[in-house]
Amino acid sequence: MTGTDAAAAWRAADLTLNHGWEFELDERAQRDLVAAVEKAYAPGRSLLDCTREDCGIGSAAPVLDRALDEVKRGRGLAIIRGLPRQRLDEKQFEFLTWAMGLHAGVARPQGKATHYISAVRDAGSDYRTGSGRGYASNAELDYHTDSSDIVFLTCYNRAASGGMTIVTSSLAAYDVMSKEHPDMIQWLHRPIHFSRQGEQAPDEGETVLQPIFDEKGGKRFSRWNWNRIALAQKLPGVPQLSDEHWAALKRFDEIVRRPELAYSMWLQPGDVQLVNSHVTLHSRTDFVDSDDPSQKRLLYRLWLAPPDSDPLPESWGGLYRSVMPGTVRGGIRGHAYGAQHENFEARQARSLGMTMPV
Ligand SMILES: [Fe+2]
Repeated sequence: MTGTDAAAAWRAADLTLNHGWEFELDERAQRDLVAAVEKAYAPGRSLLDCTREDCGIGSAAPVLDRALDEVKRGRGLAIIRGLPRQRLDEKQFEFLTWAMGLHAGVARPQGKATHYISAVRDAGSDYRTGSGRGYASNAELDYHTDSSDIVFLTCYNRAASGGMTIVTSSLAAYDVMSKEHPDMIQWLHRPIHFSRQGEQAPDEGETVLQPIFDEKGGKRFSRWNWNRIALAQKLPGVPQLSDEHWAALKRFDEIVRRPELAYSMWLQPGDVQLVNSHVTLHSRTDFVDSDDPSQKRLLYRLWLAPPDSDPLPESWGGLYRSVMPGTVRGGIRGHAYGAQHENFEARQARSLGMTMPV
């Protein structure tokens, strides 16, 4: 594996010792972000109508670029503090999330409704059902990867209690598993069915078949989602996993949770966390909200395809729809994907010098 992988194979203690993955916006960058929102935001305006040129983020751009570099070519994780949360209402803060995304890549759709930003809050969803989604619940989430190259999570409100964010390096977990259980590691390279949880587009099946780990161009990539694997096992036509296969998955799930690997942090209002889905797994603890509706836990999640992405393993094609570098790939098209979405993606791709998949 490459040097990039070495940086991304961190342990929790490494993040405490070296803070090169943490960034801060200064007062000028904060003012530029507020100005970007004031210039381009209008209540009711569709996010899909906003262009990169409409939403320049000024002196916040180089900070975001450095954080993205860390996410793509370093540890696979970055945090930027100091978004001007106190000067923006919920919808303006959502728009700010969008504006940063326009700078960084092509936003990807995120589910059944083909929406491009998810409000992460307790909307009463039951995470363990075939159609439930963790981001709309207050449940503790399994360690997992999202369905895009890069994930932005901007924090507007913290919960009254709980809701701690956890990130593990999947590459470090792989190394531990290889060392402790060399006999089991082969199972993580076997294709396995992941449920699409009813969010599949008309040309997609109920499940995606891919391994937990695969390689391309000397780099290792991972996808992990216990919930979606377990739910796929209940679907008709999906072959049942052997006891040996389950044992390997359970061992891996135990390893990713170990305190020496899993880094826990509190996202504060005004923080944005960026992760690279291919080399990290994330989770969060369950939470209890304030009774005050204006104080309930609220984050905005944005999925992105960046212009300088690596080629993906062939086995990622089912989920990402393209494995070519620098293409508009990943996301969950859902049930409503149409011309307005395609036009937005094509315009944004042109602006970034990217290509749409054929
Ligand atoms: Fe997630």
